[in-house]
Amino acid sequence: MVFDVLTIFPHLLDSYLEDSILWREQKKKIIKIRFHDIRAYSKDKHKKVDDTPYGGGAGMVMTPQPIFDCMKAAKRKNRRAPVIYLTPTGKLFDYKMAKRLAKKPGLILLCGRYEGIDERIRKLCVDEEISIGNYVLTGGELPAMVIIDAITRLLPGALGDERSAHEDSFTEALNGKKEYPHYTKPREFQGLKVPPILLTGDHAKINAWRKKKLK
Ligand code: ADE
Repeated sequence: MVFDVLTIFPHLLDSYLEDSILWREQKKKIIKIRFHDIRAYSKDKHKKVDDTPYGGGAGMVMTPQPIFDCMKAAKRKNRRAPVIYLTPTGKLFDYKMAKRLAKKPGLILLCGRYEGIDERIRKLCVDEEISIGNYVLTGGELPAMVIIDAITRLLPGALGDERSAHEDSFTEALNGKKEYPHYTKPREFQGLKVPPILLTGDHAKINAWRKKKLK
């Protein structure tokens, strides 16, 4: 799955990506993430990408021309991908949405900055608006990465796919979460013992116990 990310900070996530599992998934060719520098498309002589809002008010608004031209270039490379605009006023991202988007041939993710983008870009280019939570971040780059991460785990051959079919139905019922208590070695730590049932090897009983303990 190819993700085209439109941003004015195309290198913001470089170090995160190099050190995360997403890098491995890129090397396995399960995903490809391409960053597009919106500023590079600006026709302004100073490469400006924002301006004051018509009608007045605080803050700056991202101008439509650089985004529009950047979008055209991304669309040429990822023709069937829907365009998603990351915004705190969008639809709240969840597991169900991740599952739906994981079936798309690709995604174009538009990251806003400042007070937002010119409304005409929304009308002309955007298919969906997504928020990752009810708080305002300084830009859409982290939300874009959250969405890429959550979707990548669901792609065939990726990390999340290593779960057994059985565990999958578990995950399904949990809306993507797995919140039973986990234990690993040693058997006793700071006076706290691993629950004996987990040492029995009786998987039916263990699963029943885990279900009971779900948070
Ligand atoms: N941009 C700024 N805040 C955001 C949020 N909560 N979700 C998505 N995009 C955003």
